[in-house]
Formats: sequence, structure tokens, C-alpha cells
Amino acid sequence: MNWEQARKLLRIARPNAEHASAEHAPVVDARHELYAPPRAHSLCVASGKGGTGKSVVSASLGSIFAHKGRTLLVDADLGVGNAHILHNLCPQHSFVDVVEGRLSVREIRVPCRPQLDLLAGGSGVSRMAGLSAYELHLVAVGIESLEQEYRHVIVDSAAGISNQTIAFAAASDVVLIVTTPDVTALTDAYAFLKVLLQRRGEIVPLFVVNRATSEEEAEHVADRLRSVARKFLGREPRYAGWLPDDRHVVECVNARSPVVVRAEDAPFSQALLRLSVGLRAEFDRVQARGVGRSMLRSVGYTPGMR
Ligand SMILES: Nc1ncnc2c1ncn2[C@@H]1O[C@H](COP(=O)(O)OP(=O)(O)OP(=O)(O)O)[C@@H](O)[C@H]1O
Ligand SMILES: [Mg+2]
Repeated sequence: MNWEQARKLLRIARPNAEHASAEHAPVVDARHELYAPPRAHSLCVASGKGGTGKSVVSASLGSIFAHKGRTLLVDADLGVGNAHILHNLCPQHSFVDVVEGRLSVREIRVPCRPQLDLLAGGSGVSRMAGLSAYELHLVAVGIESLEQEYRHVIVDSAAGISNQTIAFAAASDVVLIVTTPDVTALTDAYAFLKVLLQRRGEIVPLFVVNRATSEEEAEHVADRLRSVARKFLGREPRYAGWLPDDRHVVECVNARSPVVVRAEDAPFSQALLRLSVGLRAEFDRVQARGVGRSMLRSVGYTPGMR
């Protein structure tokens, strides 16, 4: 059975997912892929531990990347998303509507700022943290249908090492692990790295030390993470830089604005701008595979399985 046949079966199998099914483009068709227009490069901003600064970093990177080309911010914290808050938005719809078959991913998309759009996560919907293969497939198909319209896709990941969190990271072209100097954040960064490498062995994730009080502290933290990874995994993540602990971050979060927009001269913003240059250089080094398309392959959904 080819994917076009599978897509039709899927549509029959799930009549109330009409919207979601209607946007099912051919999913993995080698002939189609040969002529497909270029896709967005994707960056997944991830961490093992919660609260390390993923959303703050993603919000500002979204604003920076949008200056370079159309950018899509995906709130992959599907059940307790807050990416919209950092852009002062109150979206009417979210991935919950997609998973429950009411809307397509295209229909939940909202504009954030010029050249920056958002796909919002749900607010306090616990079952979104553990989607079935079919539900994850719906999400992936929807993202796949949009990604040719963008130059960059930024995935603001949920914390932890759940199957769907790792699926988003493993499908992204570049993974940026955000840790802080706290030993718990570092331990969880290591755990995330371990699980990610089990899923996608060839990737070389980057990491950033957020909330450091000095460059020396950040480098010390980076050395610890690299040496533990080298010793126990035989692999090292690449140190991408550090971001200072900066009171402007809290002020901007409370003002619901990306730090680089509201406080562009703040130390955090300046450091993030430097980091963004390295990330875009990383995009130049890797081929854009399409985060939606790659997820479709890895989710492993086959029609009839729900
Ligand atoms: N560099 C920084 N300086 C000062 N405060 C910071 C910095 N980075 C993050 N914070 C603080 O940490 C809080 C949590 O950040 P954020 O929401 O981005 O974390 P997260 O990793 O996305 O959390 P979650 O895992 O819950 O999604 C922010 O609201 C802010 O108060
Ligand atoms: Mg977050």
C-alpha cells in the first residue's frame, strides 16, 4: 500500500477528523519528495528539566529568525503550552482542536508578529502529554502541510523525555538543549541527551548554559556535561554558548514580550543574538528534512491502528 492509499483509508477510518484528514498531503512518496520545494530548517529547543528557559529562548529566537525569513513557532508543550503568553497572544484554538478532530493545523495557526506565526499548545489538558501514535500522526501531518511555507521552524519543546517530546527533537534538524548550572538541570540534560541519541544516533546536539553568572561558570558547567557524556555515552554534545542570568528576562516575561523585542540591549538579548548567529550557521551545515515529514516517518502510525 502506498501512502496515498493509506491516506484515503485514514480518512474513511476517522470521519470526525475531517479537517485534519483533508490536509493530508502525500506523506512519504519518494517521487514527490524528489521535486518537493525546499522545507524550513527546524530547531528544537529542549531540556530534560522544566523551567530552564526553553520558552524564553524560543520566543526571542522566533523574533530574531523572523527578521531573516518567515518563521513558524511550534509550541510542543501540547498540554500546558505557554509560548503564546510570551507573545501576548490569547489564541482561540490549539493542538487540542487538531487532536480532537475539529480543526486542521493550518486553522489553528495565528500570527505573532511580522513573519512569525504560532501553533499553540493547549492550556492544562493533561491527556495531550501522552498522545497515541494516531494523534501524533495528525499533528505531524499538519506541520508537514505548512513547513514548505517557512524558512525556519522553531519547536518549543516540553520538558522531559516522553516519547512525543523525543519524537519532536529527533525529527528536528538542529537540537538545542537548554540547561542551567543547577546540578538537577545538568543531570536531566544528560538524561535527555542519552534518550535522544538512542533514538537518533547520528545527531550532534548543541547545548546552551542559561542563567549563568559568568562565562567561567558556564564553561565549567559545559565541561562537566561534555565529560559525563563522553564517559558514559561515548559522545559529546557541542557547546553553543551561554546566556546570563538577567533580571530583564523576568520583566519581559511579566510584560509578555520576547526579551529581544522589549529589552534589546539587555545582556540576555545580546548573548542570544550571538547564539542565533551560530544556530543559523548550523542550519547552513545540515539539510532541511522537514520536522513534520520526519516525525511522520518516526511516529510509526499505520492505518487501522488507533
Ligand atoms: N536568563 C535568565 N535570567 C533570568 N531569569 C530567567 C532566565 N531564563 C529563564 N528565566 C526565568 O525562568 C522562567 C522559566 O522560563 P521558561 O518558561 O522559558 O522555562 P521552560 O524551560 O520553557 O519551562 P517549561 O519546562 O515549564 O516549559 C522564566 O519565566 C524566567 O522567570
Ligand atoms: Mg516552556
